[in-house]
Amino acid sequence: MDLEIKGNAALITASSSGLGKACAKALIQEGVNVVVNGRHQDKLEETVQELKKLSGGKVIGQVGDITNKNDIKKLVEITYEKFGRLDHLVTSAGGPPSKPFMETSDEEWYHTYDLLVMSVVRLVRESKEYLEEGEGGTIVNITSRSVKEAMEGLVLSNSVRMAVIGLMKTLSKELGPKIRANAILQGLHETDRLKNLLQKQVDDGKFKTYEDALNAKSNDIPLKRIGEPMELGDVAAFLCSKKSSYLNGVSLVLDGGGSHSNL
Ligand SMILES: NC(=O)c1ccc[n+]([C@@H]2O[C@H](COP(=O)([O-])OP(=O)(O)OC[C@H]3O[C@@H](n4cnc5c(N)ncnc54)[C@H](OP(=O)(O)O)[C@@H]3O)[C@@H](O)[C@H]2O)c1
Repeated sequence: MDLEIKGNAALITASSSGLGKACAKALIQEGVNVVVNGRHQDKLEETVQELKKLSGGKVIGQVGDITNKNDIKKLVEITYEKFGRLDHLVTSAGGPPSKPFMETSDEEWYHTYDLLVMSVVRLVRESKEYLEEGEGGTIVNITSRSVKEAMEGLVLSNSVRMAVIGLMKTLSKELGPKIRANAILQGLHETDRLKNLLQKQVDDGKFKTYEDALNAKSNDIPLKRIGEPMELGDVAAFLCSKKSSYLNGVSLVLDGGGSHSNL
């Protein structure tokens, strides 16, 4: 299926690995020029080199911390300057630490808010004018299934991510008809983030080995496996595309059917 986004330009934050990188791959393969981002230059450069081997759109790396206002401004400016347009904003982020509520500090709560909510607020503020050009653009927020169901040990994610859903729904109303805004509520996908979380459960004595942890998590999912990052990347590309032109304000659960909620 041709997603009809060839020649478009996309900014994908927190994309030097994991789910953001999968979104970059999927968009490049559709012929979209992308800017990828992360805080660490070496990791980002390695990813840029890997993505350059794909056929399709061009790729540029821009180092920056999405909790920093100026870095966000620079990310948006670079995308527009280098590609002469900005059609798609895909907002991924790092993940907040996993710990019980009583061990979380004020600083961690505020940092999580900056990372997961203010980053999106600032990115949209800086990009809106560009996204509205021509036929208009899209915003896709990569968030988490934790907004549907509270996940064990993830109080920061369970609590703070609710705000981004309110934000995305509001954006889908205020920024239409030029801009569509949707969120992906993913379950488990095997990335560095998941590997670290599962290893922590092994270290905490909940599982004997990493493999045991992986098997237990897979068994909880009707499809009996953890998702591949590209299974999210392809959905993000679809949400950016003309093929999803009537999808707006949606919170799409992408978890192999693992959640228990009816809606
Ligand atoms: N994987 C899953 O199963 C899963 C499930 C539900 C929700 N999520 C959520 O989805 C998001 C992405 O997860 P992931 O699995 O892709 O994580 P990941 O594999 O750890 O990748 C995170 C990426 O974000 C970058 N990053 C982290 N903090 C950043 C910051 N402040 N500014 C710019 N870049 C930053 C990292 O690079 P640098 O370290 O170089 O900055 C890296 O490229 C996270 O919020 C995570 O909690 C993941």
